[in-house]
Amino acid sequence: MPILIPDELVSILRAARHIVVFTGAGISAESGIPTFRDALTGLWERFDASDLATADAFRRDRALVWGWYEWRRAKVMRAQPNPAHLAIAALEQVVPSFTLITQNVDDLHERAGSSAPIHLHGSLQSPRCSGCARPFEHPPGIPDEPEGGRHIEPPRCAHCGGGRIRPGVVWFGESLPEEAWRQAHKAVMDCDALFSVGTSSLVFPAAELPIEAARKNKVVIQVNPQPTRLDTVARFNLVGPAGSVLPKIYARTWHDVQDQP
Ligand code: OAD
Repeated sequence: MPILIPDELVSILRAARHIVVFTGAGISAESGIPTFRDALTGLWERFDASDLATADAFRRDRALVWGWYEWRRAKVMRAQPNPAHLAIAALEQVVPSFTLITQNVDDLHERAGSSAPIHLHGSLQSPRCSGCARPFEHPPGIPDEPEGGRHIEPPRCAHCGGGRIRPGVVWFGESLPEEAWRQAHKAVMDCDALFSVGTSSLVFPAAELPIEAARKNKVVIQVNPQPTRLDTVARFNLVGPAGSVLPKIYARTWHDVQDQP
C-alpha cells in the first residue's frame, strides 16, 4: 500500500511554528534494535523485556539484568541511525521551533544529528551506582557478549566501594527524570503539531503527552505500521514504517516532492 501524505497535513506542517516529535522503540526497529513488544530471540527467547526492566528483577538477579542491558548496549553501538532518525534531524533544521522527546535509551537520534533530544527514560550510556547514585563510566569500546550465557556481574562503584552499578535507564515503577518531564510537557503545551512515532502508547506517564496535546487542540500525527490506542486520538494516522513515512513527509512538505501513485 503506498503511503499518501494528505495535502491538509502538508499545509499544517508548513504553517507550524513549533513542532514536537515524540518517539518510541519503533523508530529504532529499522536499525535492528528489537522493540519491547517484539518476541526476543537467541539467548533471550525465554524472557520478556518488560520483566527484565524492573528494580525487582535487578534485586533478584542483577547479573541477568546487567547482562541484558549490556547485550542491548552492544546491539545499539553496532547499529546505525536509519532514514527515520535522519528525517527527524533534518526536520529540526527547517521548522522555526522544534523539540524532540524520546522514550528510547539508545543514542541513535544524537548520532543522526538531532541536537538535544529529551530522554524521558534515561540512557544506556549513563549508568550509575545503585547505592550512592554517582555516575559510572563504561569502559571504552563495545561490550563483549557474555560467554556461553546471559549473566554479567555489574561492576562495583569505585567511590562508595560496595554499591553495584545499575543501568541509567528508568525502570517500570520508577519516576521519570523531573527536568526532562518538565521540558517535555512545556514543549507539548507550546507546540502546534506533535508527531507520535513508533510507540505503542502503552507506557505512562510518557504516553500521556500525545493525548494531552490532542486535548489542547494540537494537531497529532501518528506514524506506526500497527494500530495503537492513539488511533482514535490522532488527527492523522500514517500507517507504515517510520523509515519510509518520515522521509516522505519531509520531502513532500519542505521540498515539494509529490507522492508517487
Ligand atoms: P514498544 O515496544 O511498546 O512499541 C513499539 C511500537 O513501535 C509498536 O507500536 C510497533 O507497532 C511500532 N513499530 C514497530 N516497527 C516500527 C517501524 N518500523 N516504524 C514505526 N513504528 C514501528 O515501545 P515504546 O512504545 O517505546 O520503557 O515503549 C515504551 C516504553 O516501554 C519504553 O521506553 C520502555 C518500554 O518498556 C522503559 O524501559 C521504562
